[in-house]
Amino acid sequence: MNNENTFKFDDLQALLRFSHGRLTDTCFLLLHVADVRKAKKWLDTAPISNATESDSLPDRALQIAFTVEGLRVMCVAESVIDGFSDEFIMGMSGEESRSRRLGDIGMNAPEKWDWGGESKKIPHLMLMYYAKENAVKDFRTSIETEDFVKAFHVIHELPTLHIGEIEPFGFKDGISQPVIDWECRQSTNAHEREGYSNLVAVGEVVLGYPNEYGLYTARPLIDEREDSVAACLPHAEDKTGLKDLGRNGSYLVVRQLGQDVPGFWQFLYKMSASNFDKCELLAASMVGRRRDGKPLVLKSVAAIPGISTQNCDNHFTYDFDTEGYQCPIGAHVRRANPRTGDLPPRVTGIINRVMKKLGFDQKQEEDLVASTRFHRILRRGRSYGPKLAPAEAIKADAEVAERGLQFMCLSANILRQFEFVQSAWSMSSKFSGLQNESDPLLGNREVLMNGERTDQFNRPSAKGVTEKIYNLPKFVTVKGGAYFFMPGLSAVKYIASLPIKEDT
Ligand code: HEM
Repeated sequence: MNNENTFKFDDLQALLRFSHGRLTDTCFLLLHVADVRKAKKWLDTAPISNATESDSLPDRALQIAFTVEGLRVMCVAESVIDGFSDEFIMGMSGEESRSRRLGDIGMNAPEKWDWGGESKKIPHLMLMYYAKENAVKDFRTSIETEDFVKAFHVIHELPTLHIGEIEPFGFKDGISQPVIDWECRQSTNAHEREGYSNLVAVGEVVLGYPNEYGLYTARPLIDEREDSVAACLPHAEDKTGLKDLGRNGSYLVVRQLGQDVPGFWQFLYKMSASNFDKCELLAASMVGRRRDGKPLVLKSVAAIPGISTQNCDNHFTYDFDTEGYQCPIGAHVRRANPRTGDLPPRVTGIINRVMKKLGFDQKQEEDLVASTRFHRILRRGRSYGPKLAPAEAIKADAEVAERGLQFMCLSANILRQFEFVQSAWSMSSKFSGLQNESDPLLGNREVLMNGERTDQFNRPSAKGVTEKIYNLPKFVTVKGGAYFFMPGLSAVKYIASLPIKEDT
């Protein structure tokens, strides 16, 4: 951390601090480098937006991120690449076991993807344009000069369309986000942290800073004596004499998720005996929030660090709903963030706490969900496809179109954060003691290797009866995806300045 405890934002890309929510016109380009020399020249002066705050809100923002293939093409040495995490190096679609864990099998399998699956469809880099309504076209024209066109080849353009503050199924989105503890207000010491907190250490999202374990996540560190270009990089805080290519950068996970909006609403309408109010309640129990974003749990907790008590749409945990009577345990938002602390709910009193910490506690089932502070992600996704209101979507002749989410999230550790949430919580049929079900929105509904089904949804009620929905169809299909490194601005300079290899 900086000496005076004030975070320096000028080397960070703006997306790490701002969601660019006001900039509703977006364009995400997946690019291949066509001419390395020209690509480096363009990159050297590219107006990438940083995270400093100015008096007036910006009208435009440009962000950039590279896949491992892109870093290689831009001449980053293999010894440096080795310092990145294995999952980034292998890529989202690079290993069968990873695909299985992420649920990318069957119709979700990488070989069916529009991009990011087959090696020639893996981008080198992604350029993200954000502008005010109808202004992205002009923004692009100003960036995509003649030299740019010679330097890069567009392999795919990810569709986006602003349909309001909702995702395509019609639910308010972008409500719950972790708050980054830029000022280091909170201790990462497990002994001082028991309940759920929404404040997360900078190092959970930005590389080169202490994470929730109080440690530095592995990233490429370079000895300046062996690589003079590295002089432009910040020093590694934890290793004297080394330069830090990761510092102020982050990993960006991108997944194009197609959403079958008519399929979702028509199935739920049928399951609700064509009663629209019941259908809405069923949909809300699958998401874990009502369409207007209101949480399903009724009683809030006393105080949650990082969330003001005024924010009643986010000021809650599931501590008073352990059975899932108000919000089903398998609901999308409860799986994606179970809002657990280091100790299970209701473990109070010094003796109980000590017993718990020593592992002598009897209530084993309460331990099944890990503490969320190690598994938070910063979501930055955007929707695509035309808006279709639920009242229209339930009709048999509802307009069918390509709709979905360009799911994007930032984290310092892809494995412990995005992949854990996706596989251990969302896709797992064993999440928190459940059986035969996975995330009601995201599940691929494939039968597991042990023959267990995953296409059920359970809605327990305080009356003791659990409503069971069987044969849940697949509502979300993966259309593409990749892992990117979103460098700090000094790291962008480093990548631009590296000498071109002879054989390039
Ligand atoms: C098409 C796919 C998806 C849809 C329609 C969807 C929809 C939603 C909605 C409506 C919310 C509640 C609004 C909010 O809290 O911001 C939400 C929250 C969330 N989603 Fe998703 N989501 C999708 C994919 C994913 C994926 C792939 C992940 C991660 C693996 C994910 C992780 C989360 C998280 C972490 C939250 C916040 C939960 C909380 O903190 O309470 N979502 N999602």
